Amino acid sequence: MKSSLELDTLRMRLNDADLQGLDLHQRIQRALRALILDGALQPGVRLPATRTLAASLGMARDTVENAYLQLQRDGFLIRRKGSGSYVPDTLGAELRRTGPKQPRARLPKHGPSGSAGGLSRRGQAILDSGGISDQMVIKAFATGLPETRTFPTGVWERLQRQVLRDHRTQVLLHGDPQGAEPLRREIATYLNLERGAKVTPEQILVLSSTRQALFLCAQLLVDAGKPILMENPGYFGARKAFESAEARVVPIGVDSQGILTEQLWADRSGANCVYVTPSHQYPTGVTLSLARRLELINWAAQRGGWIIEDDYDSEFHYDGLPTACVQGLDRHHRTLYVGTFGKTLYPGLRMGYMALPPELVGAFTRARSILDGHTPQTRQLTLARFMGDGHYGTHIRAMRKLYATRQAVMLDALDACLGEVVTPLRPPGGMQIPCFLKAGWSEAQTIRQAAGVGVHLPGLSRLYLGEDKQPGWLLGYACLTEHEIETAILALARALKA
Ligand SMILES: Cc1ncc(COP(=O)(O)O)c(C=O)c1O
Repeated sequence: MKSSLELDTLRMRLNDADLQGLDLHQRIQRALRALILDGALQPGVRLPATRTLAASLGMARDTVENAYLQLQRDGFLIRRKGSGSYVPDTLGAELRRTGPKQPRARLPKHGPSGSAGGLSRRGQAILDSGGISDQMVIKAFATGLPETRTFPTGVWERLQRQVLRDHRTQVLLHGDPQGAEPLRREIATYLNLERGAKVTPEQILVLSSTRQALFLCAQLLVDAGKPILMENPGYFGARKAFESAEARVVPIGVDSQGILTEQLWADRSGANCVYVTPSHQYPTGVTLSLARRLELINWAAQRGGWIIEDDYDSEFHYDGLPTACVQGLDRHHRTLYVGTFGKTLYPGLRMGYMALPPELVGAFTRARSILDGHTPQTRQLTLARFMGDGHYGTHIRAMRKLYATRQAVMLDALDACLGEVVTPLRPPGGMQIPCFLKAGWSEAQTIRQAAGVGVHLPGLSRLYLGEDKQPGWLLGYACLTEHEIETAILALARALKA
């Protein structure tokens, strides 16, 4: 049956959000075209005369005439003097072949993964991973968020102006995929002096984040279906990066001295790559002992494998200096060191880096050139000045002091108000406190009750692979003032004990 043009349907189409902002004749032309492609106006159907349609829609005849003319030029209408305007019969076969246009897919917000037709296996794995939802506002007790409200934006702005003045339009061009040389130099100096690393600027790769580094590691070091080892419990971002590359993640246990190296030696999966957070194990906060660091290196050297060292927040160590990084101890060059400025400066900066074994620099740089080319030059050169002029060191020292105080306030508040609910661990540093729930308390229920009073409780059990999960919370405090910490703990205690 050939359908005729229904005015209400056309009016609805004219109000489609994606037609707004177009001229009226373009909206009519696009709306009619959509009706033809959807099959609502079938081949052979006669459209109303321009005068009639214009009168029905309350617009000038020229407007409709312009729309019809464009449809005619594009082959969607045939116009014959005396007999009117038709959807061409010849479109029938074409539309049957391509099928009517499917309704537009709406992107799920952060909903369940579901399934999207036409994805590759890897695409499906990425969809199934659920992605990572970052906390976009300052809220008790979001993890991984540093203090941002007192960041020295004035200094940053001044340095950025200097960069634009000194480098002029050069910074508007493409940059080196490996990163701007002045920044690579600053990062290498910083790592060697402050983190006990042994690197040259030629080994540094400037990236947008730790996540980007882990994504590259997953792509370049593990084949689909092959195993990779990681700490259990461990950082969900790493797990998602590996699973997205269709790697099989094999959990390795953790105790008070960090990853259990005896389990590494005992592993028979065939994996030769391990992800670790030696300075402050994520999420337990424990520090990997020196004996195990050396064993880890031995293991990687004997397997001809790789250690991915995620040193995400080692700068914030409150009892003396943080332990030197694994990379600096590794004479065999098996360690890929990963660092981020998202914690030491601010997450919106989107800057991170890797210190790579020399033999991997070429492959990682090429992969990066394919992924997104390079990090914006102005940002890199501003950061290089921020570091070179001593602002980075000053900022880290100030934040270390601030976070140590906030951690103490948080631990006191937890002891005073929630002693019968959780046992907090006391990490020597970092930006969050892991808390194990005592018997009788449910993780899911406490999270729900907290949400009711506006408190976000990141759950601990999701960080475990396998059946043996510890229920609890991982509470971030670095972005909160002392008053905010105390108020939120009080509100939480009241909600849980109500
Ligand atoms: C262990 C660990 N590594 C890396 C990151 C993320 O760093 P980025 O934002 O640079 O990807 C986080 C964030 O919380 C983290 O906890």
